[in-house]
Amino acid sequence: MNFRSDNEAPVAEPIMQALLEANQGFAESYGYDHYTEMLEKRLTDIFEHWVAVIPLTTGTAANALAVAQCTPPYGAVYCHENAHLNKDECGAPEFYSAGAKLVDLPGEHGKLSPEILQKALAATGAHGEHENRPSCLSLTQSTEAGTIYTVDEIRTLTEVAKQSPWQLACHMDGSRFANALAALKCAPAEMTWKSGIDLLSLGATKNGAMLAEALVIFNPDYATEIKRRRKRAGQLVSKMRFISAQMLAWLKDDLWLQLATHANSMAAGFYREMQSRVEFLFPVQANEAFLRLPETAIAELQQAGFAFHVWPGSTDVIRLVFSHATRPEDCAALVTHMNRALA
Ligand SMILES: Cc1ncc(COP(=O)(O)O)c(C=O)c1O
Repeated sequence: MNFRSDNEAPVAEPIMQALLEANQGFAESYGYDHYTEMLEKRLTDIFEHWVAVIPLTTGTAANALAVAQCTPPYGAVYCHENAHLNKDECGAPEFYSAGAKLVDLPGEHGKLSPEILQKALAATGAHGEHENRPSCLSLTQSTEAGTIYTVDEIRTLTEVAKQSPWQLACHMDGSRFANALAALKCAPAEMTWKSGIDLLSLGATKNGAMLAEALVIFNPDYATEIKRRRKRAGQLVSKMRFISAQMLAWLKDDLWLQLATHANSMAAGFYREMQSRVEFLFPVQANEAFLRLPETAIAELQQAGFAFHVWPGSTDVIRLVFSHATRPEDCAALVTHMNRALA
């Protein structure tokens, strides 16, 4: 009964099967294999746009490489204060970009607002070369709070970024991109380049894959020498076919959307059952829920065998993550036990 993280979920069966099939004989190394070539074609079709695709092993590498591609060492990256980039990557974006500054901004429900971004950008410039140059806006979709930016919200934020005197590049941390896509039911193109996104960290690991992420670049201006940068980052995987084969299987017949839809619906079902009884900190829009519970109820649930995170810095807020492998019966048991613990 694991609600701790989608990172703890097993690999989805069709993806494991694809790995076995990719394991037949020899294939060219370092991305010159058939699977990697196919992946770029597949993503070109899915996004209806030219793309450069850089398969990687971690979401952190995707984010840090993306930032480094569009931000000079003296640049500034604007992101939400709780962005993974800012809180959970141990300075990788700063390291990969050789020293760029992250400017972390507040925002309700884990989302940036155009007003706050506008204000932050307007407050920059008076100190000339003494300041970092605003260079990149990074949005997380779905967010670290389990919420989702609408397409209009993405478009408005990227317009603020691009229409500013610095014409910022726009990055999306799509570690849980499929969860957002399944919830919004829009075309991948709508949520990305058509809404001003230049670079996307596309994550499959949290949605059924094993070590399979990709940096997807829509704007050729930010693709220059990305392969050298990847190598230098230690992310040029010699047996890349095993990442690409996973992503191909993940994308085949809309498996990515099916897996994400399942995870989202488990979260939505839980929210429906519990919303009148407990305080949810944020709207439940993707596959995560943050809620406040009495400490005694938390202890009771833990004792009953439910695994989840008590949010760092608090004793009464828990995070529940629902995944492609979450079983409806485990959700039902959680609801029953939670009601009992609250009684
Ligand atoms: C929103 C978000 N972005 C990026 C990452 C980074 O992924 P990884 O742990 O593979 O580096 C995570 C991981 O949990 C995440 O939640």
